Amino acid sequence: MTAAALTATGIELSFGGLSVLRGLDLEFRPGEITGLIGPNGAGKTSLFNCLTGAYRPQRGAIALGGRPLNGLPPAARAEHGVLRSFQTVALCPDLTVVENVMMGVARNHHAGWLNAFLPLPRGRRERSAMRVAAEAALDEFGLKDVADRYPAQLPPGNQRLVEIARAIAGRPSVLLLDEPAAGLNNSETRDLTKTLQRLASPDLVMVVVEHDMDLVMTVSDRIYVLNFGQFVACGTPREVRDNPDVVRIYLGSDDDD
Ligand SMILES: Nc1ncnc2c1ncn2[C@@H]1O[C@H](COP(=O)(O)OP(=O)(O)OP(=O)(O)O)[C@@H](O)[C@H]1O
Ligand SMILES: [Mg+2]
Repeated sequence: MTAAALTATGIELSFGGLSVLRGLDLEFRPGEITGLIGPNGAGKTSLFNCLTGAYRPQRGAIALGGRPLNGLPPAARAEHGVLRSFQTVALCPDLTVVENVMMGVARNHHAGWLNAFLPLPRGRRERSAMRVAAEAALDEFGLKDVADRYPAQLPPGNQRLVEIARAIAGRPSVLLLDEPAAGLNNSETRDLTKTLQRLASPDLVMVVVEHDMDLVMTVSDRIYVLNFGQFVACGTPREVRDNPDVVRIYLGSDDDD
């Protein structure tokens, strides 16, 4: 598969009278990790929802490698490799950790999820191949040992990592991570930082929404800063950190006005 950029132009989203995204233009490039930061309520998750098809923006175009994604529902976008993790964890509680990740693997198996559970030799082979792939994805996050537990038995931060493992297991072309470090302690966050750097590849568009500035400044090649549904800055971590508008947003300073 050739690497493709995810682009969006003129994205406008509103709910009733509330304007949430106000004409966003962006390009997320393969081979880069792009950070997406901004205060609470800036519109970061809403933008992810537009990119995955969970929300339909009133205006604007979204394309992957020039191919329009507008109008496609989330499942069809996932078929194109647009995969995500959620700010509010969304794992299936009745499946074990490894079975949840196997749902991600199933995306790449012709026989699919259902076949893997049929009591036929082919189904058994399929299931064991999926399990091996799912365990490898869990191993990236140091979670292989909890493969046979249920999500609720894991701390919230680790449940989020299982979601990322599920997305990775689906071999994404676009990976959208919504606050992957939420609920992790400092050492877990450092591990996640290294894992994200390791997962970066020339074929993958990776976008990380995160409030943990150390993580986002370390992993990102470029950062977009969103405030009230508009980009106020885009650049390297250093450019963004030194941008007076960004400093103002984060520190609430109005010294320069
Ligand atoms: N389905 C919805 N219906 C109504 N308003 C919504 C909906 N989804 C998002 N919003 C509003 O859009 C705005 C942006 O919310 P969003 O969740 O995208 O922010 P965010 O940048 O992800 O914030 P946080 O950092 O707190 O996660 C908020 O005012 C929110 O209340
Ligand atoms: Mg959010």
